[in-house]
Amino acid sequence: MTLIEARGIYKSYINGRGELRVLEDITLKVEQGKIFSIVGASGAGKSTLLHILGALDRPSRGELWYNNSNLFSLSDRQLARFRNQKVGFVFQFHHLLPEFTAQENVMMPIIINRQNRTMAELRAQQLLAEVGLQGREHHKPGELSGGEQQRVAIARALSNQPELLLADEPTGNLDSKTSEKIYALLQQINREHGVTIIMVTHNEILGSRADYCLKLSDGKLQFV
Ligand SMILES: Nc1ncnc2c1ncn2[C@@H]1O[C@H](COP(=O)(O)OP(=O)(O)O)[C@@H](O)[C@H]1O
Ligand SMILES: [Mg+2]
Repeated sequence: MTLIEARGIYKSYINGRGELRVLEDITLKVEQGKIFSIVGASGAGKSTLLHILGALDRPSRGELWYNNSNLFSLSDRQLARFRNQKVGFVFQFHHLLPEFTAQENVMMPIIINRQNRTMAELRAQQLLAEVGLQGREHHKPGELSGGEQQRVAIARALSNQPELLLADEPTGNLDSKTSEKIYALLQQINREHGVTIIMVTHNEILGSRADYCLKLSDGKLQFV
């Protein structure tokens, strides 16, 4: 079953020197429950594409269908609700709040989604255990290793039970052994939660292990 379908997506930016065309006629069907990777050179437009697939940004032209809804026909407010309910994001730099503990960081989106505090606490503890951080709940990000910080970010991304997990270079800042472990964790989450994952990566070895590997170059996307 197709979860997301991109149809004729174009994106360009206007800068001092004119128009920079980043994406040109991207068409893609993302099958539910699979892992997709996107590889490509720095500056190729991978983050731009991932942001559009997660409806964090609008394309210059083109459509994005999620099940039966035409996402870019929605208002910004409706799009924000869609993201909040359906999509989890993990970035290269974890973007955890430094003043809060691991558990509080994971609870935050749950509380924003108007769940009560006790429920949020339980769910955060459960997720942290799932990503291998039992016993680290009360550590602040600065008291965790890079790999552990990324595990917290993954737990946070899962906090509202998303159908789609988008990861932008989630191992970009980690050594190769830690990267392997983070990728194994994403595979485990995919298997156990049935979450569809789209991961942008520089790491061609990890990229090639996905169910489908796509390469972005010259604004075009191709299966590799
Ligand atoms: N908000 C923006 N305004 C202008 N140019 C941008 C903006 N975001 C990205 N770009 C440019 O678009 C191109 C693709 O960027 P990006 O999607 O971040 O590439 P990647 O993630 O593959 O490294 C780059 O040349 C970048 O400088
Ligand atoms: Mg990028």
